[in-house]
Amino acid sequence: MPSPDPSPKGTGFISNALAAPVSPAEAALRPLTFADFTGQPKTVERLQVMVGAAKKRGEALNHILLSGPPGLGKTTLAFILGHELGRNVRVTSGPVVEKAGDLAGLLTNLEEGDILFIDEIHRIPKTVEEYLYSAMEDFRLDIMIDQGPNARSVRLTIPRFTLVGATTRSGLLTAPLRSRFTLQTRLDYYDHPTLEGIVRRSCGLLKVVIDDGGAREIATRARGTPRVANNLINFVRDFAQERAQGKITQPVAAAALELLEIDAAGLDEMDKRMLRVMAENYRGGPVGMSTIAIAVGEETETLEEVHEPFLIQEGYLQRTSQGRVLTPKGYHAVGLKPAAGEQGSLL
Ligand SMILES: Nc1ncnc2c1ncn2[C@@H]1O[C@H](COP(=O)(O)OP(=O)(O)OP(=O)(O)O)[C@@H](O)[C@H]1O
Ligand SMILES: [Mg+2]
Repeated sequence: MPSPDPSPKGTGFISNALAAPVSPAEAALRPLTFADFTGQPKTVERLQVMVGAAKKRGEALNHILLSGPPGLGKTTLAFILGHELGRNVRVTSGPVVEKAGDLAGLLTNLEEGDILFIDEIHRIPKTVEEYLYSAMEDFRLDIMIDQGPNARSVRLTIPRFTLVGATTRSGLLTAPLRSRFTLQTRLDYYDHPTLEGIVRRSCGLLKVVIDDGGAREIATRARGTPRVANNLINFVRDFAQERAQGKITQPVAAAALELLEIDAAGLDEMDKRMLRVMAENYRGGPVGMSTIAIAVGEETETLEEVHEPFLIQEGYLQRTSQGRVLTPKGYHAVGLKPAAGEQGSLL
């Protein structure tokens, strides 16, 4: 029986940064136009084409689904769409729309061409989802009112609106819902040079002094995620003020991030705990994510949404039909070597 990981519980800086609600400081750093938004070239080009055509025809934009790991810019892009089209963006979230009546309230309050942004759309209740189909397709809702002998169906006509859905788990969306989006586009982790540009932009807005080495250091440790980069900047700025006369240089950034236990590759304490548990308790796997979650004391969902996509993309883990498998790179990241016969030695 493998023993649970003995280190104290806690989620690590990165999961905390990604789980926190959007702070006013973060909102202030949000790009407002396509020109201000760097990276995600394919998604941006697709959106620009759709926006340009909708504006020329004077029509509402077609429905769009944005998917990808947390903190890469889904909400930001929904607001950019509103801004570029000169339309309002109403924001809600899947679990908040509990009943068909909630949806009716949202939709009937929209104006022609407005954007309804539904975050975490994979969490919308199935009963509500069915109403969404006719709203998206025919711009109408057939709602039952009253009960018993008085029950009757009322047809509501709704303005032509654009649904922008965001999800960290596009695999959980039902096929009928997914098929009603004209564009489904996935955001990827940012490469280091692009993130470096985002770090410089944020520092400029925050009036933080940073040199090229400092920007590069933060970018390489921000696991391809602008939200993480912005959070790291906040901490490194405090560190620079307390320990280095306010200027962020490479050694200052590196020392600050060591203090947060974020290593040179951007792995945080929780990433490493996952890798270590897999190596030490499960001989490199295959092992199920829920088993790993119990061993490290974190929710399976958080590990799947926040940690796993980055670990897979960077080649620390692989996903197989039998479970997750540690790669040699995964062993090395936690200072271990796969023993003969263990998973990592076979890959
Ligand atoms: N391309 C970009 N350029 C500059 N900053 C960006 C970019 N993308 C995202 N950001 C910054 O990262 C922050 C997080 O982005 P956003 O809230 O849009 O992520 P998200 O994909 O909606 O995440 P979640 O899934 O957690 O809702 C934003 O406040 C913004 O400041
Ligand atoms: Mg968001």
